[in-house]
Amino acid sequence: MSPIKNDLFLRACRRERTERTPIWMMRQAGRYLPEYREVRKNSDFITMCKTPELAAEVTVQPVDLIGVDAAILFSDILVIPMAMGMDLQMIESKGPVFPKPIRNEADAKELKKVDVQKDLKYVLDAIEVTKKALDNRVPLIGFSGAPWTLLTYMVEGKGSKNFAEVKKLIYNNPKLAHELLDQISDVVIDYLNAKIEAGCNAVQIFDTWGGILSQSEFFEFSHHYITKIIAGLKRTDEPVIVFAKGVFYKLKRVISCGCDVLGLDWTMDIGRVRTRVGDRVALQGNLDPSVLYADKKIIAEKALSVMQSYGEGTGHIFNLGHGILPDVPPENAKFLVDFIKEASYDLHR
Ligand code: CP3
Repeated sequence: MSPIKNDLFLRACRRERTERTPIWMMRQAGRYLPEYREVRKNSDFITMCKTPELAAEVTVQPVDLIGVDAAILFSDILVIPMAMGMDLQMIESKGPVFPKPIRNEADAKELKKVDVQKDLKYVLDAIEVTKKALDNRVPLIGFSGAPWTLLTYMVEGKGSKNFAEVKKLIYNNPKLAHELLDQISDVVIDYLNAKIEAGCNAVQIFDTWGGILSQSEFFEFSHHYITKIIAGLKRTDEPVIVFAKGVFYKLKRVISCGCDVLGLDWTMDIGRVRTRVGDRVALQGNLDPSVLYADKKIIAEKALSVMQSYGEGTGHIFNLGHGILPDVPPENAKFLVDFIKEASYDLHR
C-alpha cells in the first residue's frame, strides 16, 4: 500500500485501476504562476534551485493552486553540467548559456567527476523539504535530462536552431561523443538513484532534443544511454517516465529502454500509440501546450479529444505535450485540471 493519499498518478503509471485519469503538467512549477514570479522576484533562478526552501515552495504551488495529481521537483536539467564544473549563466532573454562549451578532448578533460551526495546535495535537501511540505498528499516526481539532451547543451553552449556543433561532434568525432555520453550517463544514474533514495516516487527522463536526430542516430546516441540509465536504477516500485520530444517512430524499440511510461508530444495520436504499445507501457500526454491560450470551450473540447483518443481504462496520465508556456492564464491551467478530473470518470467505469 502506498502511503500517498492521492496515488492516482502512480497507479496509472503501473496501469493499475484508477477511478479517473490523473493529470500534472510539465513545467508546472514556473512563470505562468504569479505566486512563482513573486518568489522569483527576490532570487535569481540558480539561487532558487540551490535553496531547498525556495525550491520546495514553488514545487508545492501548483499542487495547492492548480490541483495537479503529482508534484515535480523544481530544479533544472542543467544542474548536472554545473556539477561537472561548467559555469551556467541564465540570461533573461536568451535562456541558459554555458560561456565555455565542450568542443574537443581538451575541454572534455576539464569536466569534473561528480559526487552526487556532495555536489548535488542541494537537490537532495530540496526533496527532503518538499516531502515534508507535501505531507504525502501527492507523489513527488524527480527528473533528469537524458544524456543526449545534456550533451547538446554542453556542446552548443546555448539553445540552437541547427545544432551544428553537437552534430559536428557526433559525425566528426563519435568516439568523444560516446565517451562524454557515457560519462554523463554515469552521473545521471547516481543522481536519479539519490533522488529515489531521498524520497522521489517516480522519475522522468527529459530528452527534449531527441527529435533533432535521424532515427539511427537517435538509437545510437540517445536511446542506448537512456537504456543504460534505466538498467542502473535501484528502485522498489518507482515508475520511470521517458519523454523524448519529436521521437514518433519505432515506438516498440523506443520502449525497449525499460520505461514504465512513455511521454508523448502533441504531434502524436495517443490512441494510435496505445494500439501499438499500450499493453506494455502507460502513456503520458499530450495536449498541445498552446491550447491553454484558447477559451475554455476549446480547452475542454481539445482535452476531451485527447482523452477519447486514448479511450477507456487505465494507463493514461494526462499532461501537456511539452512544458506549460510562461504566459498562459493560470485560470486556464486550473480549468484544464478541473475538467480532466470531472470528465474522465466516464472512461474508468
Ligand atoms: O516541470 C517543472 O515544473 C519542474 C521544473 C523544471 C524546470 N526546468 C524549471 C525551469 C524542469 C522539469 C525543467 C527541465 C528543463 N530545463 C528542460 C527539459 C524540459 C523541457 O522543457 O524541454 C530543459 C530543456 C531545461 C533547460 C532550461 N531551463 C531552459 C531552456 C530554460 C529557459 C527557458 C525558459 O523556460 O525560461 C530553463 C529555465 C527554467 N527552468 C525556468 C524554470 C521554471 C524559467 C526560469 C525563470 O524563472 O526565469
